[in-house]
Amino acid sequence: MSARKPIRLGVVGLGAAGRAFLPAIAKHPAFELVGFADTVADIRGEITSETGSEGYATLSELLSGAELDAVYVATPTELHPEHVSAAIAAGRHVLTEKPMALGVEQALAMVKAADEAGVALVVGHAHGFDRPIQAMREIISSGRLGRVRMVQTWNYTDWMYRPRRPDELDVGLGGGVTFRQGSHQVDIVRLLGGGMVRSVRASTFDWDPDRASIGAHTIFLQFADGATATAVYNGYGYFSAMELCGDVTEWGFVEPIEKRQKVNRPSSGQSSADELAAKRSRAKSAIPASAPFQPTFGVTIVSCERGDIRQSPRGLYVYDANGREEIVLPNDKSPREMVLDELLDAITGARPAVHDGRWGLANLEVCVAAIESARLGREIELVHQVAAPQ
Ligand SMILES: NC(=O)c1ccc[n+]([C@@H]2O[C@H](COP(=O)([O-])OP(=O)(O)OC[C@H]3O[C@@H](n4cnc5c(N)ncnc54)[C@H](O)[C@@H]3O)[C@@H](O)[C@H]2O)c1
Repeated sequence: MSARKPIRLGVVGLGAAGRAFLPAIAKHPAFELVGFADTVADIRGEITSETGSEGYATLSELLSGAELDAVYVATPTELHPEHVSAAIAAGRHVLTEKPMALGVEQALAMVKAADEAGVALVVGHAHGFDRPIQAMREIISSGRLGRVRMVQTWNYTDWMYRPRRPDELDVGLGGGVTFRQGSHQVDIVRLLGGGMVRSVRASTFDWDPDRASIGAHTIFLQFADGATATAVYNGYGYFSAMELCGDVTEWGFVEPIEKRQKVNRPSSGQSSADELAAKRSRAKSAIPASAPFQPTFGVTIVSCERGDIRQSPRGLYVYDANGREEIVLPNDKSPREMVLDELLDAITGARPAVHDGRWGLANLEVCVAAIESARLGREIELVHQVAAPQ
């Protein structure tokens, strides 16, 4: 086997998303963490003592101070365009968090910049990388159940009441559940429905005046080939979709309802500084490195002409003329290691990324259109969709 030098990776933004990647980077033989940037000195101290890697206060210091091949951008969404552009301008490959930007124009500029610089641009992590979703795609591609006609993905969580920075609730800055959580749902339904969404009709909801934002949505997606999908999200937390998923959490742990905490609204006396401190503390353990069961993002059901597929705690249930079959899937790799696999293939040219800049842009277009549809009360036609690779 040819020994390839590890890809030297820098990370900018070491909050919930950035920290969650550290175990995957440490485990992946093709990547090496060579530096990171975060504006908060305490976070830099913690990460350096955990990883031995050098911390910088800004991305520009990281880009000039460390020898990097690629940068993972995990800063708040409104900073993605600036940070992705800076990394591309420095000639680095880029992995950026979802949603990739605040709007379609920004995303188009990011895609163009990556094309012109000849670097890879991958948009992750979305739950479309989860193994059960990948396995659903394989069954669909095999043709054994016929064409996909409907996809439903429904999630109920307490997203709105977890500790948040103010921008995470500001829809103009990429906040609220349609941008932040809808981006996972759109990734899932586009991967399963073939990618080419023709139009979107949606309603969004903001029903807690003490926590103003988009906290829930119903999105109806019409695909170009006549298939349809719904993406339903309720982030107000009274009911959890885990109850419909064998009590398995988003990251693959069993959490029975008796152990689940009541919906925990930030108290009215809590300052935004308290909430930020709570968010930073939660970020250290929000997303575990490995889990006994498959990750779930609510209930996803694919209806094909000759059968249905949904997730089980260990993999998939496939329903066809012979009844129900469970397919148990391996969980030796975390979803984030699979993101790194896709980034590696894109960088080495082994295989184009499914979640490339154009795919991320098309996901973002659906989220933006859903918010616009809810505002205008009408269906929105889409123009930036791309087909899912087979
Ligand atoms: N895929 C997932 O499962 C997942 C989970 C959480 C967040 N996200 C995405 O990741 C992004 C970040 O969200 P988060 O919840 O991790 O936020 P966070 O607040 O926990 O982390 C952001 C980090 O960026 C740092 N930062 C802010 N401005 C910076 C700057 N100019 N330069 C360097 N560092 C800076 C902050 O100090 C903080 O440590 C968002 O786009 C979000 O949608 C994805």
